Amino acid sequence: MVSLTFGWRHLRSQNIKLTISPPHNFTIRTFAPPMLKNDLLLRAARGEETERTPVWLMRQAGRILPEYRALRARLSGFKELVETPDLAAEVTIQPIDALDVDAAIIFSDILVVPEAMGLTYEMVEARGPLFPETIKTAQDVARMRVADPEEHLGYVLEAIRVTKRALNGRVPLIGFAGAPWTILAYMVEGHGSKTFSKARRMLYAEPELAHELLRKITATTIAYLKAQVEAGANIVQVFDSWAGILPPAHYQEFSSRYIAEICRAMPADIPVTVFAKGAFWAVEEFAQLPCRTIGLDWNQDPRAVRPLVGDKTLQGNLDPCALYGTPEQVRAATIAMLDQFGPYRHIANLGHGVYPDTNPDNVKVFIETVKEYSATLRA
Ligand code: CP3
Repeated sequence: MVSLTFGWRHLRSQNIKLTISPPHNFTIRTFAPPMLKNDLLLRAARGEETERTPVWLMRQAGRILPEYRALRARLSGFKELVETPDLAAEVTIQPIDALDVDAAIIFSDILVVPEAMGLTYEMVEARGPLFPETIKTAQDVARMRVADPEEHLGYVLEAIRVTKRALNGRVPLIGFAGAPWTILAYMVEGHGSKTFSKARRMLYAEPELAHELLRKITATTIAYLKAQVEAGANIVQVFDSWAGILPPAHYQEFSSRYIAEICRAMPADIPVTVFAKGAFWAVEEFAQLPCRTIGLDWNQDPRAVRPLVGDKTLQGNLDPCALYGTPEQVRAATIAMLDQFGPYRHIANLGHGVYPDTNPDNVKVFIETVKEYSATLRA
């Protein structure tokens, strides 16, 4: 028996899988995912005109939703949720049902990448991530492997496949990874920090060692994001959460060049979003990247950024704290934001992840206001 199996992406254009069993017995099985019923996010990312502005929230799958907290309370912890594909898929889809957003983001964490490379993390209740071992020496860096996505991150890929089946084309699925600098910051520091001074020390004291680690993270991330796309992600986002603590020259040397490598490695038909929190000085550089969308945090004024980024799409950028206001205030702040971005090449979002103590009713006001008001901007 000879079995010819081509890559999913390779045959996606033909929508077929071919299995040929000589001498004259072969089957053709279609296995393409259903067409997207709502592709607003992808069209906006590609810069096309849309009937209204698409909207989703960073950290939409999580503690703002009572159904997330109920499921989470039954489990041993965060990692069980992340590592059980059926459960990860369930919480990925919760905000689609509860909030009616225009995209799902796969429930996982950026810290699965260092773990796949050989550095285990713990998620400490009410405190956040902790790496019991950290990267200190050249030997530590040498011990880190370039991870194989199927072997070391197969649970995320399986969660993507399960989610895609369950979504049945309702909305696009966003894949993601941390930017290499942000991942290095956690691997060297071992936990969250205001200054990340151990990680930043390495950039001054041992720049070559930092580059060695960044190269390994970048190679892992490229393979991982490509595998997410193979598994069904329609768009990918790179989170550089700790961009803003680097001086601009270090940002170019240690972060944006690796982000550029990731963008260049992605398939041409998959939009990439780069969200570098706090790196307002890097916007013109991002405009040169082969990415489609640039995420803005709430410190940036979209009216100032727009002329600097050519035909790129912008994502963001309501202050997450604006959702603590009254519904009327949320509505007014959302309208002001939409006016600043204008009708096209905008994906509405917050300027960072939604805070866990946000009232979901206000999140709904934000989403509904984007949908209603942005449609009137086209009229
Ligand atoms: O809804 C989504 O956006 C998808 C899921 C997602 C999580 N983490 C789940 C999560 C995504 C995209 C992330 C990315 C992530 N993780 C980033 C980049 C984005 C950002 O916020 O800047 C970073 C820096 C991390 C690392 C991380 N994970 C921290 C610092 C923490 C603790 C603080 C916090 O926000 O709770 C986590 C834990 C985490 N990741 C939770 C969730 C839902 C909370 C865990 C819980 O259920 O107790």
